[in-house]
Amino acid sequence: MELLQGRWILLLLCLVCVVECNTFRFASYYASSMVLQQKPSQAVIWGYGEVGATVTVSLFKGPEIISKKIVDLNGETGVWKILLDPMEHGGPYWILAQQYFQEDVTKLELHDLLFGDVWLCGGQSNMEMTVSQIFNATEELAKAVDYPNIRILTAALEMSESELDDLRKIDLQWSVPTAENLGNGNFSYFSAVCWLFGRNLSRKLKYPIGLVESSWGGTPVEAWSSNRALKKCGLSESKRKYCYRYNFSRKVSGPCTYSVLWNAMIHPLLNMTIKGAIWYQGEHNTDMNTDLYNCTFPSLIEDWRLSFYEGSNGQTDRHFPFGFVQLSTYMKFDKKDKYPDIRWHQTADYGYVPNPKMINTFMAVAMDLGDETSPYGSVHPRDKQTVAYRLYLGARAVAYGSKNISFQGPFPAKFEVFDKESYINITYNQKLLITHLSDTIFEVLCGESVYEYEPELNSWLAATVMSVDSNVVTVYYKGCSQISGLRYAWEDWPCEYKKCPIYSIQRHLPAPLFVKYFPKQKKVRLHN
Ligand SMILES: *[C@@H]1O[C@H](CO)[C@@H](O)[C@H](O)[C@H]1NC(C)=O
Ligand SMILES: *[C@@H]1O[C@H](CO)[C@@H](O)[C@H](O)[C@H]1NC(C)=O
Ligand SMILES: *[C@@H]1O[C@H](CO)[C@@H](O)[C@H](O)[C@H]1NC(C)=O
Ligand SMILES: *[C@@H]1O[C@H](CO)[C@@H](O)[C@H](O)[C@H]1NC(C)=O
Ligand SMILES: *[C@@H]1O[C@H](CO)[C@@H](O)[C@H](O)[C@H]1NC(C)=O
Ligand SMILES: *[C@@H]1O[C@H](CO)[C@@H](O)[C@H](O)[C@H]1NC(C)=O
Ligand SMILES: *[C@@H]1O[C@H](CO)[C@@H](O)[C@H](O)[C@H]1NC(C)=O
Ligand SMILES: *[C@@H]1O[C@H](CO)[C@@H](O)[C@H](O)[C@H]1NC(C)=O
Repeated sequence: MELLQGRWILLLLCLVCVVECNTFRFASYYASSMVLQQKPSQAVIWGYGEVGATVTVSLFKGPEIISKKIVDLNGETGVWKILLDPMEHGGPYWILAQQYFQEDVTKLELHDLLFGDVWLCGGQSNMEMTVSQIFNATEELAKAVDYPNIRILTAALEMSESELDDLRKIDLQWSVPTAENLGNGNFSYFSAVCWLFGRNLSRKLKYPIGLVESSWGGTPVEAWSSNRALKKCGLSESKRKYCYRYNFSRKVSGPCTYSVLWNAMIHPLLNMTIKGAIWYQGEHNTDMNTDLYNCTFPSLIEDWRLSFYEGSNGQTDRHFPFGFVQLSTYMKFDKKDKYPDIRWHQTADYGYVPNPKMINTFMAVAMDLGDETSPYGSVHPRDKQTVAYRLYLGARAVAYGSKNISFQGPFPAKFEVFDKESYINITYNQKLLITHLSDTIFEVLCGESVYEYEPELNSWLAATVMSVDSNVVTVYYKGCSQISGLRYAWEDWPCEYKKCPIYSIQRHLPAPLFVKYFPKQKKVRLHN
């Protein structure tokens, strides 16, 4: 009996040890078949071990040793971390990690490792939507086998009140893509936008791409932001736990509490060296802290950049490229929802990116990709191919420095207001492809009372497009003695699928929405 009790105690101790003690292991998201960030950065490898042990990490190509790093586990954390030498893209490589502790040597191996570019994909349900949910899903899934050089990882949906150092759980450990793991159910894994973006990159760059998905549907930007980032926008704590607006399933109605997803799903990844991030989020903020999004979103970008830079010992670029999708559409006949506001705020109120407040960013405009009959609700349009392709163009220009890539839709460079004649000449920064002009797409604000800071008090009037000449659009409003504002495409659902009025000639990229106020003194007057 006593012997039996002793065994139980031993077993209990062992169980406690499994949880508490520092078994020699890699951090959760280091696994065979992963992609590590290529040069000029150094990939970080980290894990746990016995305090007082020595850990060696050797990189091999076949039988040939490429490098060996040694680290002592001093201090109290039982965490070790090494930086590999900068590596040219390619592979496969393998890693042997060994722990020397007292008399014991423990070995760990990782196989089929590739060096390439690692991209993080974050956001809410439109990032979560899997390849099986999009248009042409069957064909897209069947193509998975053509891309063995892309490797994918999906973090599980977890939240935490405090910052975690490692992921609690992983939904999809590093894998070679297959039809099954790209299309696992609805809003699970793998992200279609992330996959298609990576696929476009892989075809162009012809080297390995690692894709890390960490997203959760129905979540506000605040949940993905650290306390440090939120403070910059005057936010501190929240009481709301769940967001129920898009209540299609548990997964598309995620946690709302500030920082809980930053804590559990982003903070653990900070030590990994990455090339950049893409992001598809904002729907939820049409309902929560909307007017702050022009602060909270740029603040998240800046904070993620600083945090990844610090976590990777300076190996992730301090200003790493950050791409995002400008919100698509949701409700066709709702004139009042805040989709335009969030789209505008996603650019820090510039209308385009990159801009002085959002350097090294790129944006895929998606307001022309509405999908009224999506079985997942109109908030989840199924054309993710076009979204990903537009992101990819931005990445080539901003992340890969291609000089001659057209990646932005047309944007106004100059406004000339002619009050007496009641018209405005808008000069765009590039030649225009005008296809489906509507009489409501441009709106003017008449009179002297402009509520720039309480825009809902303004009454906008549909204006007529009088003429279009190469890159100049002339907009007319009869009987307006003073034009004090102008806006374009300022509605949730501004056009039918791929039929917005203005596109770029070069790549058929849509002109993003804008709003412009004309302060009285700055007006150009023709006959004064
Ligand atoms: C990152 O590395 C540091 C050591 O440089 C370690 O203390 C920390 O736990 C690691 N993880 C995170 C999430 O910062
Ligand atoms: C995903 O959603 C679609 C449309 O609602 C449905 O037909 C399909 O059965 C769902 N698939 C799974 C795996 O739940
Ligand atoms: C990008 O992907 C789209 C479909 O997702 C495809 O039509 C296009 O050819 C791809 N472009 C490149 C350069 O890979
Ligand atoms: C949303 O779903 C949850 C869980 O299924 C349920 O408890 C809740 O009442 C739903 N909320 C709304 C507004 O439908
Ligand atoms: C953000 O937009 C709101 C109006 O929606 C405005 O009041 C505020 O000044 C803007 N903040 C920044 C930082 O641009
Ligand atoms: C789906 O496939 C058809 C036929 O190949 C093609 O015309 C269409 O553009 C594809 N849709 C998307 C969203 O890629
Ligand atoms: C730049 O791109 C345009 C359009 O794709 C092309 O016509 C032109 O030849 C390119 N110029 C250079 C220098 O590559
Ligand atoms: C405004 O644009 C139209 C069309 O390009 C042009 O004919 C007109 O001269 C312009 N007005 C002024 C004052 O430049």
